Amino acid sequence: MGAPLLEAANLQLRFGAVRALDGVDVEIFPGEVVAIVGESGSGKSTLLRVLAGAMEPDAGRVLYRDAAGEAHDVQALSEAGRRRLMRSDWGFVHQNARDGLRMGISAGGNIGERLMAAGDRNYAHIRAEAADWMGRVEMNPERIDEPPKNFSGGMQQRLQIARCLVTNPRLVFMDEPTGGLDVSVQARLLDLIRGLVAQLGLAVFFVTHDIGAARLLAHRIVVMRHGRIVEEGLADRVLDDPRHAYTQLLVSSVLAA
Ligand SMILES: Nc1ncnc2c1ncn2[C@@H]1O[C@H](COP(=O)(O)OP(=O)(O)OP(=O)(O)O)[C@@H](O)[C@H]1O
Ligand SMILES: [Mg+2]
Repeated sequence: MGAPLLEAANLQLRFGAVRALDGVDVEIFPGEVVAIVGESGSGKSTLLRVLAGAMEPDAGRVLYRDAAGEAHDVQALSEAGRRRLMRSDWGFVHQNARDGLRMGISAGGNIGERLMAAGDRNYAHIRAEAADWMGRVEMNPERIDEPPKNFSGGMQQRLQIARCLVTNPRLVFMDEPTGGLDVSVQARLLDLIRGLVAQLGLAVFFVTHDIGAARLLAHRIVVMRHGRIVEEGLADRVLDDPRHAYTQLLVSSVLAA
């Protein structure tokens, strides 16, 4: 399988008395989808932010290997270095589309801006790529000049995903990308994400408290509770044969719902 794309060892982070991360080890391989599941407050978003270098842990370390095989200590990166990785190698999809979009510019501008940040200066090419990506996320490309606020919540998420994927990242961080949407909209968005991830061979850390979404998307599942990983394994194994009492509870509460 080769070396992990990203690996984190012994992450610790406290907020006052709260241990948001308490000795977390996690890794992801190229092309792998890892779901991070757990109840509210278990530390999922904190873990994602630390993995992406957006938040500094009290202890522990995160290593990222770029396409040339060079390892980067994520916490030791300068702000410019981190931004460069965010532009070239990584993508981040927020739960709230407003956090991942620029609401003041058009849909096409939102996608094109990422290409420009990555160095593309050919306006016609940028616009064509933006239109193409709107189609790929099943948005009407004729609406390329409309601002994000004209679109529904599910469509804004699609736009955010297009903005993230247009630069062809190798590793994508997604924090509950379908949270807060209607169930039918969620299902279609998950299908779309699954298709794109498989097509592009992306590695994805996918935070969710929806076990069904984890089953649909993930190769591997990491179960968090109180800032610790209480169980991890291949998705089918974790869901069909959960070993930790807390995972059993999570899985059975879904079955009962
Ligand atoms: N910036 C912060 N300042 C203080 N406490 C924080 C901060 N961010 C997170 N916490 C606390 O750390 C713990 C983990 O929070 P986190 O947001 O990572 O949980 P989560 O698993 O993503 O929850 P949710 O499913 O509700 O999004 C919680 O107790 C939370 O209140
Ligand atoms: Mg969260």
